[in-house]
Amino acid sequence: MKIVVVGGTGLIGSKLVTKLGEHGHEAVAAAPSTGVNTLTGEGLAEVLAGAQVVIDVSNSPSFERAAVLKFFETSTGNLLAAEAAAGVGHHVALSIVGSERMPDNGYFAAKIAQEKLIEKSGIPFSLVHSTQFFEFARGIADEATVDDKVHIAPVLFQPIAGDDVAQAVGRAAVGTPLNAMVEIAGPTQYMMDEFFRQALAAWGDPREVVTDPHARYFGSELSERSLVPGDGATLGTIRYHEWLGRNAIGK
Ligand SMILES: NC(=O)c1ccc[n+]([C@@H]2O[C@H](COP(=O)([O-])OP(=O)(O)OC[C@H]3O[C@@H](n4cnc5c(N)ncnc54)[C@H](OP(=O)(O)O)[C@@H]3O)[C@@H](O)[C@H]2O)c1
Repeated sequence: MKIVVVGGTGLIGSKLVTKLGEHGHEAVAAAPSTGVNTLTGEGLAEVLAGAQVVIDVSNSPSFERAAVLKFFETSTGNLLAAEAAAGVGHHVALSIVGSERMPDNGYFAAKIAQEKLIEKSGIPFSLVHSTQFFEFARGIADEATVDDKVHIAPVLFQPIAGDDVAQAVGRAAVGTPLNAMVEIAGPTQYMMDEFFRQALAAWGDPREVVTDPHARYFGSELSERSLVPGDGATLGTIRYHEWLGRNAIGK
């Protein structure tokens, strides 16, 4: 099956291209560096010719509210129009657990706008909502740092390895379109402040973690369950400390 992976040179996309190829699919990475740009439309018709499935795991270069909304609305609109013209039968996109609960967050609002375009496109689709990637933990800590202290709210947190994300998205892509959303998360639920306390210690990072009920997560105040999935989520198998032992990230 020909599967086009938009954002196929990125963290999740490159894992997907490898995994789908190992399962005998013709997985094609589509990104500006491979001559495909969903913002301008460059290379889209050519790469989609003969494709049965499109997976969109692209990301905006800027996370600023207006810029990220423009990125996901424009890129998704162009992509869906090109898929309709090419007769693509399944659109799969990766979004974030809890995005619908935090519309005040500019990045999450842009992901919701992306999903609305997919839902009304008429193209059969599957939406995978993931919790935060292990690979993103350092970025969260840096964003939460004020005066060299990492301010984290005491809320539930259930991060997942990028390999587990790619596995779940790949499975969705080769399955029947769900025309619905599914949730995925890591195997262990933590208190977020405690996770970062342990993670920073494991990274050898001297910053202190401050438990702060009003600490904002990329601008949003969190409640206890803002970032964790509901019942029925598919759980990954890779545990954080096992993953950390195999990855230098964060050190
Ligand atoms: N981080 C998290 O914890 C988390 C959690 C849940 C869901 N997600 C979602 O997961 C998705 C993938 O994230 P990631 O970390 O794997 O992304 P990433 O590593 O930043 O990769 C982004 C990809 O998008 C491509 N891209 C950028 N502009 C493009 C354009 N105009 N046209 C086509 N492709 C373009 C990039 O191509 P180049 O390499 O050529 O620039 C790259 O392949 C995102 O949509 C994000 O919202 C993330």
